[in-house]
Amino acid sequence: MSPGPGRGAAITGWGSALPPRVVTNQDVTTLFDTSDEWIVERSGIHRRHHASGPFVAEADQPPAHPGDGVGSTATLAIEAGREALAQAGVTGADVGLLVLCTTSPDQAVPATSSAVSAALGIAGGAMDLNAACAGFTYGLVTAASLVASGIDRVLLVGAETLTRVTNFADRSNAFLFGDGAGAVVLEAVPGPGCLLGWDLGVDGTLVALLYADHGGPGMAMRGQEVFRRAVRVTVDSAELSLQRAKVGVDEVALFVPHQANSRIMDAVADRLGLPRERIASVIHETGNTSSASIPLALVDAARAGRLADGDLVLLAGFGAGMTWASAVWRWGTQ
Ligand SMILES: CC(C)(COP(=O)(O)OP(=O)(O)OC[C@H]1O[C@@H](n2cnc3c(N)ncnc32)[C@H](O)[C@@H]1OP(=O)(O)O)[C@@H](O)C(=O)NCCC(=O)NCCS
Repeated sequence: MSPGPGRGAAITGWGSALPPRVVTNQDVTTLFDTSDEWIVERSGIHRRHHASGPFVAEADQPPAHPGDGVGSTATLAIEAGREALAQAGVTGADVGLLVLCTTSPDQAVPATSSAVSAALGIAGGAMDLNAACAGFTYGLVTAASLVASGIDRVLLVGAETLTRVTNFADRSNAFLFGDGAGAVVLEAVPGPGCLLGWDLGVDGTLVALLYADHGGPGMAMRGQEVFRRAVRVTVDSAELSLQRAKVGVDEVALFVPHQANSRIMDAVADRLGLPRERIASVIHETGNTSSASIPLALVDAARAGRLADGDLVLLAGFGAGMTWASAVWRWGTQ
């Protein structure tokens, strides 16, 4: 197919990966003064998976040369990507571009997508995309647009090892974060494709709300301020995407929000007028996995049979930056 309005993108395969070490809230209480009840009540998180940090054995920590051992962002991306390719019935040789969304790359140089591309045998280009927790939705819009522009197949992955930038001495946020990866294959289909409307944004004056410096102690966050703004920007962005897609909120079959805090997810759904039963949630199991959170929740819903061809899916995320992104996507290949 040639580029232009006659071609769009559809999702034809999906996969996910979580590191084996499960860290419970009870485990977290060994780090600082907190409790299972407090964490569950304030965040909805019961467990998360860690690839590195104090709960992971020395032998299983991420390797010095990432991509060739357990526990790295690349390793998780490879596992999720491999599963997505297999489900789509294709191999890396069929992929024209790998987009790896991550805010916890394995190295400063080069991009983590290089190691992932080599492991999966990807024939085309590869790049990292960092829009923090809004990353996967930024990536979905980018990938779908590039498919419309002429790339036949894109592997889109959200993968993180946030435990490498978590300050485990900071009880105000260390319990929130986890590691994991989710991936989808986007393929060209005739017609307009499945991306019906989208919105991407950033307010760079808000960098100080959430950041981790190179060589610093780890993540620093102003939790309440992030919470307030997250609800507002996610609702505004989702409404804009729905409007651009010419879709009413009652037509949304599944809402896949960034999994940062179940109270934020519920507040956003309530303000949008979406019944909470339509929320896709894995936060109790994964914590906040940044770029990986939306694909992990999407893949979980697809596996659970919550998505049928033609269903409208609303994705919406926010993150450090402060970034936000939303998209209305039609599930299936038509
Ligand atoms: C982090 C978050 C769960 C904290 O919940 P909160 O209701 O805002 O809690 P607060 O920060 O107001 O703290 C309330 C009290 O609990 C205490 N507290 C903080 N961390 C605690 C912990 N782990 N265990 C027990 N108590 C804790 C505080 O010291 C404070 O005590 P005080 O009232 O005596 O001063 C919440 O702010 C949040 O989720 N923010 C958004 C985070 C987010 O989405 N980040 C990712 C962006 S991509």
